[in-house]
Amino acid sequence: MFKPFAERSIEKMKEVLMTPEASGPDVHYYMIRGGKDKTNITVWECGMVGREYIKTYGHYHVGNISETYSIIQGTGILLLQKRRVASDGQPINDEIDSFKALKVKAGDKIFIEPELGHLIVNTGDIWLVTSDDSPVYPDDVDPVGLPGHADYEAVKVMGGFAYFVIEQGGHPTLVKNPKYKIVPEAQII
Ligand SMILES: [Fe+2]
Repeated sequence: MFKPFAERSIEKMKEVLMTPEASGPDVHYYMIRGGKDKTNITVWECGMVGREYIKTYGHYHVGNISETYSIIQGTGILLLQKRRVASDGQPINDEIDSFKALKVKAGDKIFIEPELGHLIVNTGDIWLVTSDDSPVYPDDVDPVGLPGHADYEAVKVMGGFAYFVIEQGGHPTLVKNPKYKIVPEAQII
């Protein structure tokens, strides 16, 4: 039986930060995975890494897996991005067909369609806590820290999502990730 707890360090997060050399908390978020039966709990540290808010790494799902997130406490911004699909059916990592940045808060329940890459940014002064129902496969190499239902590589190669969420004039603001070739205009709603 695997230990159901893992933490995401700043070392790993440097792969997807707007400013990888910026200093921030040692651990950006904590995960307790119970899978579909017990649910998964994620706890975000609050604060910044440079000008960027603390966020989860972000991933796409492998296969046809949807996910429902419940916000238990705190406030944040959910980023959803959909990749363009090539004629051979393969998604194109640096071409984004649709991008959404949605404000979320305690009490919200969000259904995430299978093809949407997702991450959540903690924009509040307290720990952001969510519950979700994605699966856990005990035979994965790292079932809690890097679950096999999630594709992190496609985000790693792009150095993060299509937009970063930074603090500007006291408010969260979107900044385009220059590594993407095609990105629709977006704003926080
Ligand atoms: Fe997910």
